[in-house]
Order: sequence, then C-alpha cells, then structure tokens
Amino acid sequence: MTSKVFIKLLGLFILLLVFHTLVMEILFHRFVEHAAGGTLRLLGREAFWSGLIALGVALPVAAWVALRISGRLHRIMEFARRVAAGDLTARLDKTGEDELTPLEAALNQTAERIGQDIAELESGRRELAVMLDSMQEAVVAVTAEGQVRWSNAVMQRIAGTQIRPGRSLVHSVRDPELLACARSALERRELCFGRASTLAPGKVFEVNVAPLPSGGALMVLHDVTGIEAAQQSRREFVANVSHELRTPLTSIQGYVETLIEEPRPGPEATREFLGIILKNASRMNRLTEDLLALASVESPDYKLSLQPSRASELVKDAIDSLGGIVVDSGIKLQFAGAPDALVMADPDAMTQVFGNLIENSLKYAKEGKRIRVGAREAGSEVEFTVQDFGPGIASEHLERIFERFYRVDKARSRESGGTGLGLAIVKHIVLAHGGRIWAESELGNGASFRFTLPLAPAQQTAAPAQTPAGAAS
Ligand SMILES: Nc1ncnc2c1ncn2[C@@H]1O[C@H](COP(=O)(O)OP(=O)(O)O)[C@@H](O)[C@H]1O
Ligand SMILES: [Mg+2]
Repeated sequence: MTSKVFIKLLGLFILLLVFHTLVMEILFHRFVEHAAGGTLRLLGREAFWSGLIALGVALPVAAWVALRISGRLHRIMEFARRVAAGDLTARLDKTGEDELTPLEAALNQTAERIGQDIAELESGRRELAVMLDSMQEAVVAVTAEGQVRWSNAVMQRIAGTQIRPGRSLVHSVRDPELLACARSALERRELCFGRASTLAPGKVFEVNVAPLPSGGALMVLHDVTGIEAAQQSRREFVANVSHELRTPLTSIQGYVETLIEEPRPGPEATREFLGIILKNASRMNRLTEDLLALASVESPDYKLSLQPSRASELVKDAIDSLGGIVVDSGIKLQFAGAPDALVMADPDAMTQVFGNLIENSLKYAKEGKRIRVGAREAGSEVEFTVQDFGPGIASEHLERIFERFYRVDKARSRESGGTGLGLAIVKHIVLAHGGRIWAESELGNGASFRFTLPLAPAQQTAAPAQTPAGAAS
C-alpha cells in the first residue's frame, strides 16, 4: 500500500516537472522572440518567477493529495485499533474510489466475518455451559498448571465459593484422592479413576480425570452416595439374614448329629431333641415368611387394592381377627374408639399392619395387661393407634426399631419368636398407603405405635352405610 502511495506521490512529482518544463518552454519561446533586445538577466528573472509559480501551484495540490491519503491511512489505523480491542462493529466508511477502496472493503468484510464467527462461538459456548450446568455430574476443567479454568453449577454447589476460575485446584478442593488423581492426569497424561469421600459431608463421589489435548485436564465427579448406601444396606442385609439362618441351622445340625451318633437315645431325650429341632425349623420358617413378606412390600411391583374403608371398621376387624391370639395371654384387647371417616386402605394389608403391632404388644408388653386399639381424625388423615402399658422403649431406639433386623433386646426377641422384620414390613405397607408411622414411648410407661392413612377423596365419603362405633374387648 505504501508503495502505491509512493508511486502516487512520484507521479505527482513528475506532473510537477512536466508543468515546469512547459512553463520553461513558453519562456524559452519568448526568449527567442526577444533575443535581440533581451538580456540574460531577464532570462534569469523569468526562470525564477516561472519556478516560483510552478511551485506555488504544485505544492498545495501535492499537500492536498498527501493529506487526503494520510487521513485515510489514519482512519484505517484507527479501525484496526478498534478491531484489535474487540470492537467488531467498527466499519470503514466509503470515501472514494481509488487503490485504497478494495483494501477498505476487504477489511470491513474481515471484521464482519470475525464478528459472525465469534458470535457463533459464543452461542456454542453458552449452549455448552447450559448443558454442563444441567448435568447431574460435577465438572471441572483445570489448566496444565493446575488452575481451575471452568466449573459447572453442580461443582460450584459442592465446593461453594472456594472454586473459581484462576484459583489453584489445591486451594479450591481439599480431597486428597481427587487431587492425587488430577495430578496424575496432568503429569502422566493418562486417565485416572478415583473416589472422593471428603469433598462434601456425607457424600461419596466417583472421580474420572481425563487429560485434555490443550495440556489441562477435565474432571467429572459422579455422586455415588445413594449407590454406596444401597450397597452397604444390601451387604448388611445379607449378613443379617445369614446370621439369622445360621443360628437355627447350627442348632438343628447339632441335634440331628447327636441323634444319629447316639446308638440308643432314650425316648425322653429324643423327644426333647426333636422338639428343639422343630422350634428352630419353625424359626427358620418364620424368618423366610417375613423375608418374603418384606421382599413383596419393598418390591416396586407391590400393588395395594385400595378401597374406601371406614376407620372404625378397620379397627374393629383387627380386634376381631386377632382376638383369638390374645385369649390365653390374660391380656385385654380394647377398642379405644374410632371415627366412621373413610380412609383409602387395603383391608388385607391393614390386617397385616395391626397383626404385627398387636403381636408386638403381646410379646413385649405382657405386664401392661391391656392393649388399646383406636383411631381419630386428624386433618386430611385418620391416625390409628395401638397402645400398650408395658415397659416401653427407650427414646434412642424409637426411630431405629423400624429398621430391618433392629431389635432393642435381641435375645428377648428371638426367645419370643421374633425376626426383627415385623416393624419394617409395617412401615413399608403404611408408606405404600401414603401414610406415616412412628412410635411414642417413655421407659416404664408403655408404648404407642401410631400410623396415619389419608382420608378418601370427598366424592367417595358418602358411599357405604353407617356402622355405629362402640367399645369392644
Ligand atoms: N410394644 C412394644 N414394646 C416394647 N418394645 C417393642 C414393642 N414393639 C416393638 N418393640 C421393639 O421393637 C423391635 C422390633 O420389632 P419388630 O420389628 O416387630 O421385630 P420382632 O418383633 O421380630 O422383634 C422389637 O425387637 C422390640 O425390641
Ligand atoms: Mg414383631
């Protein structure tokens, strides 16, 4: 471009010379015409004036052209500075038609293209950020120097304000295993898998760190707390079942071996041993039955046949059907009153619930001499209660007794034929009804097991005929 400007100025200079030559030519003719009378002084003065006139005409023209060109160059420089500073909306105005015009057009086009490309990149970046933010996994990108380059919303929730671009990863997250994994991926340029358990309280993450072609690394953290807890619970469950089965099995095996090895066991001993074997076999039978019941109510396929049922009838049916097992115990099963409100319930499942609760009261609260079963309306629910007046349950056990295999007194539970699964089954059934269950007790003052069932929708409330509620024993 500068050479073109140079050529242009050179052209102007040549023009000036041609102009000067022309003037000299005219003067020369005048000199020849006046040669006789003229003198060399005259020639010198004429030459001087002609030069001065030529200069006086050419100089402003040259200055005007140079000023115009330098002005346009200045605008191009200004434009380049704005583009370099990131202002891609800058454009050069069309000021004429010469050698600089195509250059100005090309520069305008380039700025427009870069602007479009950057807008596309920016929209792609925003889409990517939204996608990464909506992921369930936490994602962090680190530079080759181990500084946080970017992190998604999940990661920011986990690490809080500690994590931000430009901060070193070591100061952003403190989990040693995660940091070791990141270091290994950055230094050895290979994939690293690990586990972070101190990143957030009570949470466990599976960590995958992959080196990036740019030299940094990308870390993906997957929350496996739920999976871990489920696996742990499964391990505990299997261990508990094995333990519960092993005890009666060992006993059966021992007595059978004794009977086989004893050449002539007396009828008394044989009877006693067979009695023990039967007791243990029944225990195993109860356990398998409870395990099957638990598996059924815990299964996602567990279906209740819900129907609008009167609370008072549910309570009375429970008392009637379980009255038999109470007869010889010397304990009174009392009806504590119940409303006629309709609740959505599966009658068979309710028999299972009341059966387990009343059986427990019979087993663990004999001393109380009576068990009261009743219900009351509470807002949009009906609250059912099985209350005994036995030794009660210490507060630290109240929540845990609904866990599988949890027993306050293992020996006593086993002695009375318990499996430790009854309340877990009850809890699942109540939850499947959309209700809640809890226990209230004070040591020495008996225990109350309460559960709620939602009231039937208003349009069903008028359905069955009224049955008067009354006390029963
Ligand atoms: N009415 C009650 N009074 C005192 N303790 C109770 C009562 N009901 C339940 N428990 C305690 O809760 C534990 C769990 O009950 P459950 O799941 O039915 O198992 P199981 O009856 O087989 O022992 C029992 O072992 C017992 O310690
Ligand atoms: Mg029980």
